[in-house]
Amino acid sequence: MKTLLLPVTPESIKKAARLIRQGELVGMPTETVYGLAADATNETAVKSIFAAKGRPQDNPLIVHICDLAMLNGLAAQIPEAAKRLAQAFWPGPFTMILKKSPAVLDVVTAGMDTVAIRFPSHPAALALIRESGRPIAAPSANLSGKPSPTKAEHVYEDLNGKIPLILDGGECAVGLESTVVTVSEDTVRVLRPGGVTVDDLKRVVPHVEVDSAVLHQLEEGRKAASPGMKYKHYAPKAKVVIIDGPLPAFYEYALRHKEGNTYCMVFEGEQTDAPLPCLTYGGEEDEASQARSLFDCLRRFDELGADTVFARSPATDGVGLAVYNRLLRAAAFQVVTL
Ligand code: TXA
Ligand code: MG
Repeated sequence: MKTLLLPVTPESIKKAARLIRQGELVGMPTETVYGLAADATNETAVKSIFAAKGRPQDNPLIVHICDLAMLNGLAAQIPEAAKRLAQAFWPGPFTMILKKSPAVLDVVTAGMDTVAIRFPSHPAALALIRESGRPIAAPSANLSGKPSPTKAEHVYEDLNGKIPLILDGGECAVGLESTVVTVSEDTVRVLRPGGVTVDDLKRVVPHVEVDSAVLHQLEEGRKAASPGMKYKHYAPKAKVVIIDGPLPAFYEYALRHKEGNTYCMVFEGEQTDAPLPCLTYGGEEDEASQARSLFDCLRRFDELGADTVFARSPATDGVGLAVYNRLLRAAAFQVVTL
């Protein structure tokens, strides 16, 4: 199959919507990361998402909507707190897990009795959902296990030849996947941190909990609240190690422990006079810029043929929690504290 890469225009949106209605897959820009979009009401189309990505069958998908009316056919009930959260964070990088309506296909939810729903803010995603007239099931548009795509070229790298069309909407504004939460009465539990932060949530709902899987490796045998969190994710081919400590000690450690083609992943400005080759991933005090460049940076280490990557440890407040959560998985939870 030849994969077209088209800029977002009214014509390319129409073409993409036609493909969606025909049960095909489309690479779709969103404000978080690129999604691999299919008609959520078409079982064959949804199955082909799993095949194209090599995604484990037990990992459910997020359903994307373009207005609140679309919720009706998807969620069986919407708690009061969920309504307030929707009001505050939709459209945007925010996903809620709700009791599913019987109409939602089992392939979408991997047999769970809940469904993850997101109302994205990216104009191209909204136009595609509206034009196709369907709720859109879309995981991140990477091959399973690779860093999520934040540029159309990343989608092309992973899925060229497997899907007919990728809409190129440029670089994603957030750069990390949406915040995923469950809601019960007045408590919100964060399963995956993202662009909507814990502090943002606390402004709307009195009790916000962060699932232990966000910062800790799942214990053997424990069931993941969010199946996606149990996989080694976002992983470049290189061995990644996070080093928490001052910059001089960081470089000293990296030099002493270098193995094969070794790189450092540091903050803007820290690469000057570095004893090893470096890539930067945003400013030390600027978590949003770290979020935007993290996945692209991890992909570039693959291109460079890196064997070992030593990464500076980000602060974990604000969006930093999401950055650290993704980096921890890329590093398979290997952290050295100096
Ligand atoms: O920003 C995003 O959320 C992107 C864009 C494309 O919207 N999508 C995305 O999808 O990151 P994906 O499939 O890569 O990640 C979805 C996460 C997975 O960890 C999955 O296990 C979890 O959401 N999830 C989906 N449905 C769930 C459910 N019913 N219960 C618990 N977790 C669920
Ligand atoms: Mg993903």
